[in-house]
Amino acid sequence: MSEQAEKWTVGRLLNWTSEFFKNKGIENPLLEAQILLAKAMQIKRIELYTSFSSEPSEQERTTFREFVKRRGAGEPSAYLVGNKEFYSISFEVNSHVLIPRPETEQLVLESLDKLKILADNNCNDNSNSSNTKYFCDVGTGSGAIAVAVAKNYSRILKSLSITAIDISPEALDVAQLNAKSAGVLGNIDFVLSDLFDQIGDKSFDIIASNPPYVSQDEYDNLPVDIKNYEPKIALLAGESGTEVIEKLSAQAYARIKSGGFFLLEISPMIAEKVKQIFIGTGWNNIQILHEGRITCCEK
Ligand SMILES: C[S@@+](CC[C@H](N)C(=O)[O-])C[C@H]1O[C@@H](n2cnc3c(N)ncnc32)[C@H](O)[C@@H]1O
Repeated sequence: MSEQAEKWTVGRLLNWTSEFFKNKGIENPLLEAQILLAKAMQIKRIELYTSFSSEPSEQERTTFREFVKRRGAGEPSAYLVGNKEFYSISFEVNSHVLIPRPETEQLVLESLDKLKILADNNCNDNSNSSNTKYFCDVGTGSGAIAVAVAKNYSRILKSLSITAIDISPEALDVAQLNAKSAGVLGNIDFVLSDLFDQIGDKSFDIIASNPPYVSQDEYDNLPVDIKNYEPKIALLAGESGTEVIEKLSAQAYARIKSGGFFLLEISPMIAEKVKQIFIGTGWNNIQILHEGRITCCEK
C-alpha cells in the first residue's frame, strides 16, 4: 500500500465512517459522518467538499474518533455536536430537550397559514377588534416551534404575542438560549407550567403543540438512540399514549378565542383516537392533515 493511500484524508474518513454507520443501521450514514467530521474540524459541512484530500490534524481525528464511537453506540449526532437545524434556524440542543424533527416544520407552516387566515379575517372585520394575535406553543422543548413562528410571523401580521410553555425548567433554559441567539427573546413569554396551570386567564388565537404521545408499550420498544438519550418526559405520555392530549384538548378548548385554531402534532397511529377525543371535547371542523401527523380543529 502506498504512503498516500494510508493517509486518513477527509475523503477516506468519510467513506470509512459512512460504511461503519451503514452497518450499524444508521439512516443517513454519510450525512451523519459529515456533520461529525465538520464539527471535529470546526468547519462548515459544505467546506468538507473542498477538503477531500486534506488530512485533519491528530487532535481533530481524535475528536472525530470519539464522536464516531459514541454515535456508533447510539448517541444522536445532534447531542454530540450540540445543535440541530430546524426551519433554517440553528437550535442548541442537549439531553434535556427533544431533538427537533423535520416533520415538526409542518406544524410551523400550518401555524403560519392559520395566522394568515386570522390576519385576513381581521382585515375584513369592521369592528374595533385588536390587531394583536395570541399564539401559544405548549411543550416548547428547545423552543423550535415558538422561535420559528417568532422569526416568521412579521410578513403575515404586525403584532403577535407568543407564549411558550414547558414543564421542564432545563428545557426552558435551552429554549430561552435559542430565542436569544435567533434574536427573538423579547417576543416570547416563557412560562414554566404543567400545561396551562400557570397561565392565569390568558386566551389564545392559536394553540400549537407537539406533545408527548408515546404509549408505555411503544416507549419500551423505541430504538436505543431515542430511548436512551432523549428525555422521557418529552416522549412518554402514559399507558395509552393519549393521556397528555386528553388533558390538553380540554384545557385548550377553554382558552381558545372565538375563530381560533388548535393544532397538534401526533402519530398517524393515534389519529382516529385523537379525533374521538376532540369530538368528546366539543371541537369543530376537525381535520387530520399530513398523512395523520397533524390535527387541526376550531371551537
Ligand atoms: C415532544 S417534545 C416537543 C418539543 C418541541 N416542541 C419540538 O417540537 O421539538 C414535548 C415537550 O413537552 C414537554 N411537556 C411534557 N409534559 C408537559 C406538561 N404536562 N406541560 C408542559 N410541557 C410538557 C416536555 O418537557 C417536552 O419539552
